[in-house]
Amino acid sequence: MDAVSRERSRSQDTLLAALLLGLVSCLAVAGCGVQVPAWRTLSPDSDFARLILDVYEDLFWWCAGIFVVVEALLLYALFRYRRREGDSEVPNQVHGFTALEIGWTLLPAAILFFIAIPTVRGVFEINGPPPDPDPLEISVIGHQWWWEFQYPELGFVTANELHVPVGRTAALTLTSADVIHSFWVPELGGKRDLNPGSENRLWFTPSETGVHYGQCAELCGTSHANMRMRVFVDDSASFAAWSASMSAPATADSAGAMTFLISGCAACHSIAGTLAQGKVGPDLTNFGRRATLAAGMLANTPENLSGWLRNPDSVKPRALMPDLNLDEQRIDDLVRFLEGMK
Ligand code: CUA
Repeated sequence: MDAVSRERSRSQDTLLAALLLGLVSCLAVAGCGVQVPAWRTLSPDSDFARLILDVYEDLFWWCAGIFVVVEALLLYALFRYRRREGDSEVPNQVHGFTALEIGWTLLPAAILFFIAIPTVRGVFEINGPPPDPDPLEISVIGHQWWWEFQYPELGFVTANELHVPVGRTAALTLTSADVIHSFWVPELGGKRDLNPGSENRLWFTPSETGVHYGQCAELCGTSHANMRMRVFVDDSASFAAWSASMSAPATADSAGAMTFLISGCAACHSIAGTLAQGKVGPDLTNFGRRATLAAGMLANTPENLSGWLRNPDSVKPRALMPDLNLDEQRIDDLVRFLEGMK
């Protein structure tokens, strides 16, 4: 075997090993029941996502039609003009066919024009004002590596889990506290960058209740992939109950609140109704009601929360939350306090 074939055979082995490893990991993930978020761009649950899918479907059918015509002509030419037994002469060489050249210039131009109409219309529509004259205004601020959601009309702030009512347009104003992030919840619409020092707008009107997975879609540092979020689209009664609970949060147990203050947590975190008013980290009001912690990485359980408090960096690499060297007693007190706020 020469050097080139040896090299080729080695790279084929590597490729095969990678494929097998991929297959085994998929089976392992499925077998362990690890929750893999659903990234469904093909099942829109808002007007914005529907609009994108409509343009995509238009494009898909144009492309499918072009594929069928081109392949049919190709196959026809291959069979009709293939070399047959006894053919010994070079076929007649043709150069230039004006009608055909004009045709294959005009036809693609016309197709591009028909694709451009819905695309440009969609771009203008989605960058225009929201369709609802009274949208729910929400300010979204990206941080390394979590999401801040402010509800200015309702007067509270939350993090990583956005709640919106079904059927009412949510009008988001997006900015960043540090580097560029990108807001992306595939089932609710397209991506929008969060740039430090300027504001972007995005709106969508959710059409179905349910949970939607979101993810930062702009490489923003070590834990970019761990910058996740959930959007809960609530029916109007659940949304009213949730916002009432956020406006008048459960009175937290005062011993727990004291541990929170003296352990240093309050330097970064706020909890409405307590002395904790730090602004650097996520607002933790009603933390016990959240489904996840560490920006959507883990289910919100006492075990996961203690692991996170014990060593944030081991859960989320380079997390800006410091390891406060809390002893087990303090960790237990904090877990009871935080999980009890609901
Ligand atoms: Cu924020 Cu990637």
